[in-house]
Amino acid sequence: MITSTIGGRPAPEQPGAETRVLTNPANPDYEIDSVVLADAQTFADACRSAKAHQPAWAAVPAPIRGQVIANLSRLVAANKEALSALVTSEIGKPIKEARGEVQEIIDTCDFFLGEGRRLYGQTVPSEMPDKQLFTFRMPVGTAAIITAGNFPVAVPSWYLVPALLCGNTVVWKPAEYAAASADAFAELIRRAGLPAGCLDVVYADGEATFAGLGAALRAGHVDKVGFTGSTDVGVRIGELCGRHLQTPCLELGGKNPMVVTPDADLDLAVEGALFAGFGSAGQRCTSLGTAIVHESVYEEFLFRLDAVVRAAAIGDPTRPDVLYGPLLASRFAQRYEEFLGWIEPYHRVLGSTSTGRISADNPRHGFVGDMSGLYYHPVVVADVRPDDKLFTSETFGPIVGAMPYRDLDEAIELANRPGYGLSSSIYTTNATAAFRFRAGISAGMVSVNNSTSGAEAHLPFGGNGRSGNGSRQSGMWVLDQFTRWQAMNWDYSGRLQKAQMDTLALAPDLDFRL
Ligand code: UN1
Repeated sequence: MITSTIGGRPAPEQPGAETRVLTNPANPDYEIDSVVLADAQTFADACRSAKAHQPAWAAVPAPIRGQVIANLSRLVAANKEALSALVTSEIGKPIKEARGEVQEIIDTCDFFLGEGRRLYGQTVPSEMPDKQLFTFRMPVGTAAIITAGNFPVAVPSWYLVPALLCGNTVVWKPAEYAAASADAFAELIRRAGLPAGCLDVVYADGEATFAGLGAALRAGHVDKVGFTGSTDVGVRIGELCGRHLQTPCLELGGKNPMVVTPDADLDLAVEGALFAGFGSAGQRCTSLGTAIVHESVYEEFLFRLDAVVRAAAIGDPTRPDVLYGPLLASRFAQRYEEFLGWIEPYHRVLGSTSTGRISADNPRHGFVGDMSGLYYHPVVVADVRPDDKLFTSETFGPIVGAMPYRDLDEAIELANRPGYGLSSSIYTTNATAAFRFRAGISAGMVSVNNSTSGAEAHLPFGGNGRSGNGSRQSGMWVLDQFTRWQAMNWDYSGRLQKAQMDTLALAPDLDFRL
């Protein structure tokens, strides 16, 4: 039984608290564990406790905090297979991708373990003699981190690792349906030497979390919010944080375009569309939304994409060769069925023998394993139009749209039109097209001859528009989320030197001409 913690100890039991059974989406009869859901008060209490523990953690020298991150890297590496297998059984991510997800934690730790020996500030010259200026990175305080379950351990590590390294304490609210993976990751963090009270994990549903977060913000116990999830919830969190003069780190949905120019390597583009559209069953925030393909190669692109999607192995996620397994959990399956209702009679539906849930009555040719899980046919919807809901809204699941374009300006306009702005890609052999696309696309991330998915762990990750508020995670850029700059000036002249007034002026001769 998985429970929340406050100050590193189990949270007090709430009478009547809901317990949720964690099942394997590939095999719903198999129970992995169960989790007790906490109420808003528990969330707020965890934030109060984390806030109280923060000064002591910030007082630990940063290089020593970095040792915890180094230890975590080693522990995750030593437990890579077990953690990957747990992710696969809890959310149905194919084992190869689950291993990639766990590797992303290790990569994140390896980037930040040395940052404990940097966390550089600057020494800056003063405009006055006998005076020196400095900048220091200060921890923000306590961070409340709320994450989704499609990347149940890697994306949380993007927040937790730098937040802790910078001297913040953290309350983490993982997705309830991925609580076992979260619990295992939190245990590895504790075993890495993090003092008790620096990280609490609270399992709660969305409304309890929102109410608890509101209370914690009002009480001044949360100084930074990090949220990965839907655009709608991101808007609510942004409003709530704004009332407390805080800018959250928001990583929201995407409707990620892939533009294919007439000169592109079509097989490469098709391979990229297959991976980005259907890898992780299209449940990444970087998943491909719409392929926008030049009219001269549109039909050929569709023909080849249809063929590879039809041939792809779908099924048991423990098998190394499957493209994707089940959807994350039943509520995602229900919502995905709504997206399928957006297919219009004028669309062409390609990629499988049918649409909807895969079953004995609705089989998929070449399905791998037992069909009782939350498995869905892959769908390529050709001929989507700019006003279609399928074109303008995120569709979390194994569905990809396709449409033709005539010139690059039109392609860029279409790529920006849904108003998200997370990831994007262009397949081209024309450098001018690649750079024009980069300059014109509103997305935070641009791939050239690579799919929309698969960001490396040390480049800035984040989006604009409906995908986020411009905050960036990963690499050195995330340090600005978890630290604030403090400016110090030190005057050792022994007199009051007034900036802008008591400064030396050297007389120029500005009338001089050659
Ligand atoms: C997400 O879906 O929230 O770039 C993150 C990628 C992964 C991360 C996706 N490295 O696809």
